[in-house]
Amino acid sequence: MDDAPIGIFDSGVGGLTVARAIGDQLPRESLHYIGDTLHSPYGPKPIADVRRYSLEVLDTLVEQGVKMLVIACNTASAAVLRDARERYDVPVIEVIGPAVRTAIATSRSGRIGVIGTEGTIGSGAYQDMLGIAPGVQVFTAACPRFVEFVEAGVTDSPELLAVAEEYLRPLREARVDTLVLGCTHYPFLEGAISYVMGPEVTLVSSDSETAKDVYRELVGRDLLAGPTARPHHVYEATGADTDTFTALANRLLGREVRDVRLVRTGAIDLPTIR
Ligand code: DGL
Repeated sequence: MDDAPIGIFDSGVGGLTVARAIGDQLPRESLHYIGDTLHSPYGPKPIADVRRYSLEVLDTLVEQGVKMLVIACNTASAAVLRDARERYDVPVIEVIGPAVRTAIATSRSGRIGVIGTEGTIGSGAYQDMLGIAPGVQVFTAACPRFVEFVEAGVTDSPELLAVAEEYLRPLREARVDTLVLGCTHYPFLEGAISYVMGPEVTLVSSDSETAKDVYRELVGRDLLAGPTARPHHVYEATGADTDTFTALANRLLGREVRDVRLVRTGAIDLPTIR
């Protein structure tokens, strides 16, 4: 048993979809969430920068005593997964593996689409993991403006639908039967994405799948919060404008995320990756 919080992070509000799913499935757990709003968005940035920012946030969470790390961001997962598992003693959960497993189990035709940020799609992480499954064909599309819409709190505008039509057209033409929402911001756009793709295409998002991994890992390692645990949720952001983060989190989650605190992540020394 361990009453320490679960550390969760994303570049902004997207990871709150994962935090929400973890909170729903594990209501006795304390959560410590950091949105790296100072460096958001991660998607268009070079992978080496995303790696540095991500490890800075993860170090901060570990220094604050979390019992588990959840990288609730696909771009960061693609950039740091291997480093993170070697760097920390606590278990590290990421979002790509759970979505890949579910997509493979869901697809009937083997024609699987993946959408994500430029960083995630460019990293080839989904293509590599899905591509080794027998009978699977992978079709991808980067959707850079989707994160902008979510961070602006826009989930239902005609402009969003027009952009979605354009981004998703190649995947419709490829007749995918399953579409992985490979960015934790995208569950907020499920309505628009499903409207464009049509009801026969199954959307797979990492939030609930990742929460199942968190559950499994906590039980397996005997790390669940004890029976007398008093859960508390801490939300922090690295960008100065914590009010905007709070307002957006409330708008998107439909429930209160109070008292978002400002946090500074420390600079770290990293060998350059080749
Ligand atoms: N939510 C992040 C992800 O899952 C990306 C958002 C960003 O571009 O910062 O990839």
